[in-house]
Amino acid sequence: MAERNPLLEHALSLNGDPLAIREFYANWVQTYNTDLLLAIGYVAPQVAAEALIRHLGDGKLVLDAGCGTGLVGLELLKLDYELTIDGIDLTPEMLAASRKSGAYRKLNEADMCGPMHEIDDDSYDGIVSAGVFTSGHVGPDGLDALIRIAKPGAPIVFTVRDTTWDAEGFVSKIEQLETDGVVRIVGIQLSPYHTKEDVFCQLCVLEAA
Ligand SMILES: C[S@@+](CC[C@H](N)C(=O)[O-])C[C@H]1O[C@@H](n2cnc3c(N)ncnc32)[C@H](O)[C@@H]1O
Repeated sequence: MAERNPLLEHALSLNGDPLAIREFYANWVQTYNTDLLLAIGYVAPQVAAEALIRHLGDGKLVLDAGCGTGLVGLELLKLDYELTIDGIDLTPEMLAASRKSGAYRKLNEADMCGPMHEIDDDSYDGIVSAGVFTSGHVGPDGLDALIRIAKPGAPIVFTVRDTTWDAEGFVSKIEQLETDGVVRIVGIQLSPYHTKEDVFCQLCVLEAA
């Protein structure tokens, strides 16, 4: 059983409210990496980056959706330094931290709960999102825009925190997307998320039709 972690409890209770999310992450940005990586063993960036690389074809242009401070971009470049990585996030301060990481080509503010019309259809060879499909953040409908902006055949890799997976209708959404012919489900597996707290996620790999 994980111990109480007030910071994460706050994160999970943001109710998808963009103003509350921006304020919370703007205040957290300076200590985010150490609080997560060292204190709780947050491995979602590594797990998601490895899965994207396993499923990426020859194309090298990828999007990190909800890039935060840039942990996923750095993991991706360790695995393939030829990648071109763009990032989007709701919180300007987190985008600024990603910019400092040096891992990204373009970084833009975008709301994954909306249609993201600022990004063209069929833009990316692969999409990855770690730690964003979780309670209080982005729900299952956030997948629609990611699918639209993925090129046909592109892998879309994302983590869903275990408690969120059960509570927020991810299974039915993903099954419906496959029934509708807009994605193929490549794999869904339980993976480590916070290794020091015994918290897990579902690591999902879809392929855009
Ligand atoms: C837990 S952090 C994960 C960041 C990074 N992917 C990682 O694994 O370290 C969640 C991020 O999602 C962003 N976020 C939350 N809601 C969002 C939304 N609707 N659209 C885009 N980004 C969002 C937050 O600003 C924050 O940077």
